[in-house]
Amino acid sequence: MKLALIGYGNVGRALARLLRRKRRQFPFTITGIHTLRHGTAVDPRGLPENPQMGPRAESIGAFLDVAGAQAAVELTTLNPSTGEPAISHIRSAFARGMHVVTANKGPIAHCYAALREEAEHAGVGFRFESAVMDGAPVFNLWRHTMPGVNVLGFAGALNSTSKVVIETMERGGSFEDGLAQARRLGITEADGTYDIEGWDSAAKTAALANVLMDARTTPQAVSTRGIGRLTPENVQELMRKGKTVRLISRGKRTGSRLSLRVRAEVLDRADILACTPGTSNIILFDTDLMGTFGTVSLDPQVEQTAYGVFSDLVELEGRTPWSAAGPPAGD
Ligand SMILES: NC(=O)c1ccc[n+]([C@@H]2O[C@H](COP(=O)([O-])OP(=O)(O)OC[C@H]3O[C@@H](n4cnc5c(N)ncnc54)[C@H](OP(=O)(O)O)[C@@H]3O)[C@@H](O)[C@H]2O)c1
Repeated sequence: MKLALIGYGNVGRALARLLRRKRRQFPFTITGIHTLRHGTAVDPRGLPENPQMGPRAESIGAFLDVAGAQAAVELTTLNPSTGEPAISHIRSAFARGMHVVTANKGPIAHCYAALREEAEHAGVGFRFESAVMDGAPVFNLWRHTMPGVNVLGFAGALNSTSKVVIETMERGGSFEDGLAQARRLGITEADGTYDIEGWDSAAKTAALANVLMDARTTPQAVSTRGIGRLTPENVQELMRKGKTVRLISRGKRTGSRLSLRVRAEVLDRADILACTPGTSNIILFDTDLMGTFGTVSLDPQVEQTAYGVFSDLVELEGRTPWSAAGPPAGD
């Protein structure tokens, strides 16, 4: 399958590395890369990992027309207020009969239901596993393994940057030290205030509610407060009392009412939402048939985000990872 990448930053480059590593088993070819400031590159025979970028295509449509790909991979910067321009990028790809995979939670948080219907109408696939918890199964878990189960609510520590900042302050560093560390790990949004003020978590909360609870909501409808007011003194005092802080996303349906919120919650250090280390993420689902269960991802890096995109591409190509597994040492 030929791929047109829109955005070639941390995730795009990690995806290119992963595709190269797995190219024998999964022969995807990147035929186009389009960026904001670094220009555009197209080669129908396939681009190398570090392609020579040429002048920027004049529009996303012009790029997709020349890239000659079957799937567009949308990996541009998150805009939690509107989901744009990613939403328009996705619609341009649908209009050209292309499948779309994205790691960008903005479109899922703002207009998932409309995009799903448009993809169905265009007869193409639309996948977004990495929008929440990178490649750890969250959306695909529900798509493939939970027949008949309804989600009644969820609670998750879903923002790695806030966790790195809090743990840095617990070790005696400053807020800015923690943010710099998260940037070095490549896990921070281009605008780090989205992580700190809770907008990244609000977008994930809205995306989860839209996909799993048919909420048709937006990040603005999520009651959100971030970690911006925490200080090293606060968190160290809490630590002495056996407590810590986590930025927690919660969704809960009560009758016809759906409440969605993001808060810096004080938790016992042994609380299951608090006790995963480093950049780890955890989500717990409350359900009607399966009680409470969840997914944990220990110290995910950008490679795991790339894996989520990869797993979506493999699925859209009609090959499940396990049916195409080949020999176990298949790198
Ligand atoms: N990093 C992670 O661990 C992670 C995890 C889960 C989800 N995500 C999501 O994945 C997406 C990409 O993240 P990232 O870390 O790779 O971001 P990044 O390093 O900031 O890269 C963003 C890329 O998008 C390009 N871009 C921005 N606006 C564009 C536009 N209007 N048209 C074309 N290209 C545009 C940028 O172009 P220039 O290179 O020219 O600036 C850059 O190549 C984000 O939506 C993020 O929320 C990231």
